[in-house]
Order: sequence, then structure tokens, then C-alpha cells
Amino acid sequence: MQIRLGILGLGTVGSGVLDLLDRHRAFFRDSLGFEFPVTAHCSRSQASLDRFAGQAPFLTRDPLALVSRPDVDVVLELAGGEDAPRAWVEAAFAHGKHVITANKALLAKHGQDLFPLAERTGRFLLFEAAVGGGIPIIRTLQEAFIANDIHGLACIINGTCNYILTEMTQKKLSFQTALKDAQALGYAEADPSFDIEGTDSAHKVALLASLCYGKYVDYGSMSVEGITTLSDVDIAMAEEMGFAIKLLGVVSQDREGRIQANVYPALLEKKHQLATVEGVLNAVFLKTSAVGAILLTGAGAGKLPTASSVVSDLVSLARQLATGNPKVQPMGFFSSRNRADLRPIDELETEFYLRLTAVDKPGVLAKVTAILGEEGISIRALVQKPEHDPERVPVIFLTHSTKNSNVRRALKRIDALDIIQAPTQVLRFYR
Ligand code: NDP
Ligand code: HSE
Repeated sequence: MQIRLGILGLGTVGSGVLDLLDRHRAFFRDSLGFEFPVTAHCSRSQASLDRFAGQAPFLTRDPLALVSRPDVDVVLELAGGEDAPRAWVEAAFAHGKHVITANKALLAKHGQDLFPLAERTGRFLLFEAAVGGGIPIIRTLQEAFIANDIHGLACIINGTCNYILTEMTQKKLSFQTALKDAQALGYAEADPSFDIEGTDSAHKVALLASLCYGKYVDYGSMSVEGITTLSDVDIAMAEEMGFAIKLLGVVSQDREGRIQANVYPALLEKKHQLATVEGVLNAVFLKTSAVGAILLTGAGAGKLPTASSVVSDLVSLARQLATGNPKVQPMGFFSSRNRADLRPIDELETEFYLRLTAVDKPGVLAKVTAILGEEGISIRALVQKPEHDPERVPVIFLTHSTKNSNVRRALKRIDALDIIQAPTQVLRFYR
């Protein structure tokens, strides 16, 4: 069986897909009975198209020209963006094409329209590569764990952030140097603020939470914190305490069925399984009803890991089409009519790490501890780092478990004091 491909985007992921299709061509043809000729390529610049000249008969810089071609059966959307690709996917469905995408930003923003549209039009919209790079987490949730309730999940789901945090910890690299390296390695988004501000993690966590609970989780309603304000003091303190800092996505459902889904940098004891996940690796730790706890880990970004997931979607689609009666995975629940009412992060109760930047003068600690006490926050430990500029001394408070709302109220008052020189850095402990 021949399935003709239109590849939209020839960057890190697109080039990886071409590479894997080439390497496994004979196996796909001889053992599985599938051929995947690439009939059309699309890239924004002529230079990119020129690099792949000769690998497809039709080359264009116009995505809409690619998705409407009669010699394309499946569009691989590997370009990125949010609003423009929505129009490409809609046009692809209108022309009877199936779509495979690695684009979590597109799905998190427009999935509530695109998934129901796919279901209505009987087209496939597959997205294994959009979450966790090479980790097969989408199909695991849709198929392997179909007989499980998911009690909760915690994940490291952005390769760029995990790479940066690992490099800052192990090689003492600066944030900016580690970010540049992650970009050079092809891990980061075209706009890396999506990575470092936690947005990319939120896109993926929203998709995972939606799959876990069969409701549309809107990433815009989640609490999202990134890693841009972390300093070398935080990294060193975590090391001293025997903890690692990870950007986590944390999802749970309470007894009333309300979902909590947040993204924040967290301190994890070094012996915690997630603390050992380093570099570009991602991990999803699931608590399930039948299997129990399980950790899936692997490369969360990069050319071949991501391409591997795209090609796995392609073969899965080919197997469906070969039946003559293909069944689209039911994703219609992912619709704004079925929106989850998320529990606010204010209700979350954890221990906190608070790094204040204070002037070193008498009475500072008294003022801060008074406010913490008034807001019902009990202090577990206090560390002042003396070797810094006396105008900007890091003072670290570790708290006992307390509600997020208490800390939010306290910091509003503390950060307004004239002795405080910068917004307080907040980390939550994850146990
Ligand atoms: P790249 O920037 O490396 O490649 C993007 C490709 O798409 C380039 O060929 C670019 O053309 C083309 N392109 C972008 N915009 C347009 C447009 N408007 N019209 C036509 N062509 C366009 O990105 P990646 O390969 O890294 O990422 C692609 C997608 O995969 C994104 O959605 C990303 O979030 C997702 N993803 C990426 C992962 C990774 O590790 N890199 C992992 C998982 C998902 P040109 O170069 O000529 O500008
Ligand atoms: N920029 C993303 C990351 C790519 O670093 O995880 C994989 O989705």
C-alpha cells in the first residue's frame, strides 16, 4: 500500500523524518507492506527547499499549496506556530488529508476545534511527537493504560529546561550559555521563551491532563511558572540540601473529580526517580489504578527522537488505512463544551523555598518573619548567604507545608517592603 506524504517543515524534525523514512524504507515496504513516497515539500525559505531539492517532485513555500495537492494523502505538519497551522490543518481536512503533527502549541490552543473537526470529517489528527519527544506517552495513555484510572502524574516535559538546569548544576554553566547550547542542539522552540517561561510545558501538560481525564484542560487556565528567575544561588542551595531543581508539570484529580494542573520549578530529593532524569531527557511519572506507579523516560526533544514518534504515527495510520475501515481515535471530548473546571493553585499545599533579596541591615529578618507568622506560615529553616553584596543579600526561608494562598499573600506584603530589592524566588518541594 502506498501512502503519499506532504512534508510541511524541513527543519530539525522534518529532516529527521526524512532520515528515518530513508533508513527504514526496505523494512516498511518488505515486512509491513507500506511505501511512503514524499510527493511534496514545503519550507518557508528557498534555502531550506534547496537543501532538500531532488527528494520530492513538488516543492513550495506555500503551505496551502501543499495541503491541497491531489497527490498528497497525509500531511506532516512539522513547521510550528499556532494560528497559521490551524488554517493549514483545516484546509488539509477539507481536501480529505490526514494530518500528523508535532505541534503542541497548535493543539493546546486550537485542539478544542481541530479534534472535533477531525472526528466529524473522519480524518486522523495524530500527535505522538507533540508530547515527550521520543517517549510514546500519547499512545500509552490512549491504548496501553485504557484499563486504568489515572490518579495523578508528575512530569519533566521540556527538554530545553531540563538540559539547562542540568548544565547549570553539573557544569556550572550560566543560564544563557546553557540555553544557547540547547538551541544549537535543536531542542528549543523557534521562540525559546516558550520553553524557559514554562509555556511549552503547559501546552503538553494540558494535552496529557485532557487525555488522562477525558476533559478539555485549557492551558490558559493553568498556573505556569518557568525557570528564568532561577539563579546560581538556588542551584547551589539545592545541591547543598541534597535536592535537584526540575521544571515539573503536576496533575491530579481530587475526590470530587476536580483536576489540578500546574507547571512550576520544584525541589526534589536526589533519590526521587524524577530527580535522576537529566539533560534533554523527559519523564512522565504516572499513578495508575491497575498498574500502580510507572515512570516513562527518554529523549524529550531533538531530531531523531521526535522524528521517531512522527514515523510511529505514520505507521499506525497506515495500519488503520490498510484495514479499509479506519477508526479515528475518539478525541471529540477535547472540546470547549467539555472544559474542565480546574482547581486553582492557591489550594495546593506544599513546603516552600523562598529566596528573598534583601538589604543587610538590622530588623530585616524581624519584619519578614512577622509577616510570615501573620499569614500562618511556619518556618522550618533559614539561611543567609553572607558573601554577597550587602545591598542584595540572598536570604532563604524553608517553610513547613502551607497553602499556596498563604504564601501568595505573604509575598505580596514582603516584596513591597523597602528592604526587599527584587521579587522573591519561589520553589515548591515535590515529595
Ligand atoms: P525548525 O525551526 O527546525 O523547522 C521548522 C521548519 O518549518 C523549517 O523548515 C521552516 O522553514 C518551516 N516553516 C516554519 N514556518 C513556516 C511557514 N509559515 N511556512 C512554511 N514553512 C515554515 O523547527 P523544529 O523542526 O524544531 O520544530 C517543528 C515542530 O516540531 C514545532 O511545532 C515544534 O514545536 C515541534 N517539536 C520540535 C521538537 C524538537 O526537538 N525540535 C520536539 C517536539 C516537537 P525555514 O527553515 O525555511 O524558515
Ligand atoms: N522545545 C521542546 C523541548 C521540544 O525542549 O522540550 C520538544 O517538544
